[in-house]
Amino acid sequence: MESNKIITVFGATGAQGGGLVNAILADSTSVYQVRAVTRNANSDKAKALAQLGVEVVEANIDDPKSIKNALEGADAAYFVTFFWEHFSAEKEYQQILNFIEAAKESQLKHLIWSTLEDTRNWVPLDDDRMPTLNGNYKVPHFDSKGSADHLFVEAGLPVTLLRTSFYWDNFIYFGMGPKKGDDGNYYLTFPMDDKTLAGMAAEDIGKCAYGIFKTGSEFIGKTVGIVGEKLNGNDMAAQLSKALGIQVIYNNVSPEVYRSFGFPGADDLGNMFQFKRDFNDDFNGIRDEKLSRVLNPQMQNFHQWLSLNASQIPLD
Ligand SMILES: NC(=O)c1ccc[n+]([C@@H]2O[C@H](COP(=O)([O-])OP(=O)(O)OC[C@H]3O[C@@H](n4cnc5c(N)ncnc54)[C@H](OP(=O)(O)O)[C@@H]3O)[C@@H](O)[C@H]2O)c1
Repeated sequence: MESNKIITVFGATGAQGGGLVNAILADSTSVYQVRAVTRNANSDKAKALAQLGVEVVEANIDDPKSIKNALEGADAAYFVTFFWEHFSAEKEYQQILNFIEAAKESQLKHLIWSTLEDTRNWVPLDDDRMPTLNGNYKVPHFDSKGSADHLFVEAGLPVTLLRTSFYWDNFIYFGMGPKKGDDGNYYLTFPMDDKTLAGMAAEDIGKCAYGIFKTGSEFIGKTVGIVGEKLNGNDMAAQLSKALGIQVIYNNVSPEVYRSFGFPGADDLGNMFQFKRDFNDDFNGIRDEKLSRVLNPQMQNFHQWLSLNASQIPLD
């Protein structure tokens, strides 16, 4: 089939966008031709994409004009922001406004906005069950994303709001994997009590996004929540023990203790886990395992992800 519809993918050298690029490239019948966005076309990752025959363009989501250029002539686009590059909810919000401004002037027929909940709709700033952070947020890396959702819709854009889940890849790259205790056992620490954590392989986000684009207009104007599997701490620890050949124990701490760990973003993540714990039905309810598998028939569960990735989880 001739691929003549351009799809502009932001974050193409990263987890979410990279997963979408791979999903499209793996489909020889795709109607889409990928335009991969990077800030630096000379990086190794960008050059590797170019070598695969992908059009690589430079843009920075701080610069609306460069976003507009990247959307020139495109039929579809994947929008994602990168909170952990700068830790600023205000900056992230401005970047989202930049996306919207550029999209309004584009000819896009479908765009996916990778978003999360504005947790302040559940925990208002004056609710002191968790601290307010940076003056205006409960979970900064969620709130700025979710608070902008309605702006895409009100701008009349053909948007699908994609609510993603916790990446299991955080066990490899984000320092969240099991840590060795003084007793020689390994501890998986987060503050969710016995509640389940909606998780997924980061690469499956792009595959689900591709599934959404492939349906045409079915999901335009809709919110889609995606997840690989919902597991509690004990279940995750048991599966990690098996896959890693060590004893991993779930260490359920309080959100206060988690927030006090002191690494950059510990307070944000402590509030995030507390939100997922205290509003577990709402958070998990919108993340639909069945639909995720329809969108991406290769959707991995935790066991499958571990069988491919456990060897990369660092153990000290
Ligand atoms: N970790 C989790 O569990 C989780 C779960 C759900 C949602 N999220 C959200 O996922 C988002 C990050 O997505 P990701 O994991 O795909 O990111 P990632 O793997 O860190 O990739 C980021 C890519 O974005 C590009 N980038 C960074 N700043 C840019 C800018 N100013 N303009 C244009 N491109 C820029 C970089 O490409 P170049 O260097 O090539 O320019 C980089 O390769 C975060 O906002 C986070 O909140 C994370």
